[in-house]
Amino acid sequence: MFIGKFARAGLGIVAALAMSTAIASAEESVEVLHWWTAGGEAKALQVLKKDLESQGITWNDMPVAGGGGEQAMTVLRARVTSGNPPTAVQMLGFDIKDWAREGVLANLDDLAGKEGWNKVVPDALKEFSKYDGHWIAVPVNVHSTNWVWANKAIFDELGLKQPTNWDELITDLDKIKGAGYTAIAHGGQAWQDATMFEAVLMSTGGPDFYKKALIDTDPAALNSDTMVKVFDRMTQLRGYVDDNFSGRDWNLATAMVINKEAGVQFMGDWAKGEFLNAGKVPDQDFMCFRFPGTQGTVTFNSDQFVMFKVGEDRRDAQNKLAAAVMSPTFQSAFNVVKGSVPARTDVSPDAFDACGKKGMKQLAEANEKGTLFGSMAHGHAVPSAVKNAMYDVITAHFNGEYDSKTAAEELVNAVESAQ
Ligand code: BGC
Repeated sequence: MFIGKFARAGLGIVAALAMSTAIASAEESVEVLHWWTAGGEAKALQVLKKDLESQGITWNDMPVAGGGGEQAMTVLRARVTSGNPPTAVQMLGFDIKDWAREGVLANLDDLAGKEGWNKVVPDALKEFSKYDGHWIAVPVNVHSTNWVWANKAIFDELGLKQPTNWDELITDLDKIKGAGYTAIAHGGQAWQDATMFEAVLMSTGGPDFYKKALIDTDPAALNSDTMVKVFDRMTQLRGYVDDNFSGRDWNLATAMVINKEAGVQFMGDWAKGEFLNAGKVPDQDFMCFRFPGTQGTVTFNSDQFVMFKVGEDRRDAQNKLAAAVMSPTFQSAFNVVKGSVPARTDVSPDAFDACGKKGMKQLAEANEKGTLFGSMAHGHAVPSAVKNAMYDVITAHFNGEYDSKTAAEELVNAVESAQ
């Protein structure tokens, strides 16, 4: 009887404990702000949502559409100003440094130490994942921007070969246009113009010029004959886009290549996520190759989940989110779908398709050779204010507001006043 009474009381305690654990874990949640709203992007994000949900953590989604993340950053500012930051925010390069400087980011050092992140995250990414020596963000991937995505059926039909330099590119574009297709699928939005611009710049001036102009913002490089040539080439490419390009979202431009309406798109490897989502296969339905003249160089950007300071009650879920992102299994599963490559150096390329394997190999080679550079268009070359100043000039020129010489001069003025 005595024992029975105790056992019953014990059972009661166990049940109460179980219930309170259930309540605690049912209440665990993360709120994640991101701009992954295109089909391929959303599918990749699903991998992370499922991972957390399997750990009993509720995912509160906060999508803010707009490639390149400008709109997302505006929404974030409002949330932080009102004293209610999300748990984690998708962010690019220099924006992370800006937020870190404001002292509003969490410290992930304990988790990073326990899981040995220092050894597996390359320096080029740690530059943004750490601030003042402390971990404040987790890198999800490495994207690269100097890619061409081509419709294979059009290339086969017209007997085109993959262009390796500027002249070959123009020859191919002429043939595609001549056959009645839109040669270049493009969306006239500032970040897309800038994505094309940095590839043309790398192709025209080479790695040293890229560094001088877009990373060091050297006025002599910004207003140089080479820069005038870069702008001239942008004008040339403008002749191959369709009449409706203005304001078009990047994924709709990708769809034009997928649907055999257009020959090529110049875009980061998130475009591959769209091809895969549409059931297309690399080398069979579409081709991926480096922007002609940029072979051997890689311009990269890395999406990182930046962790904001949150209340004690949300800390555990935040750490679980960070740990999930950094797990090698997630880094493989997510990036296979997203089009990017893993941010960790110890993930096997086996699960990746032909474009992914190429991307991983070329990234490692460029890193080794010193030809890996941060993408200006995607926040990894200069702070946002300077990037936006560059965007304005590039877009104004692309839309015919400046001739090439004026654009090169304006670039210096715009950058100076943004610094
Ligand atoms: C991000 C990618 C994203 C792309 C288009 C880039 O800035 O790094 O993850 O897919 O924008 O939305």
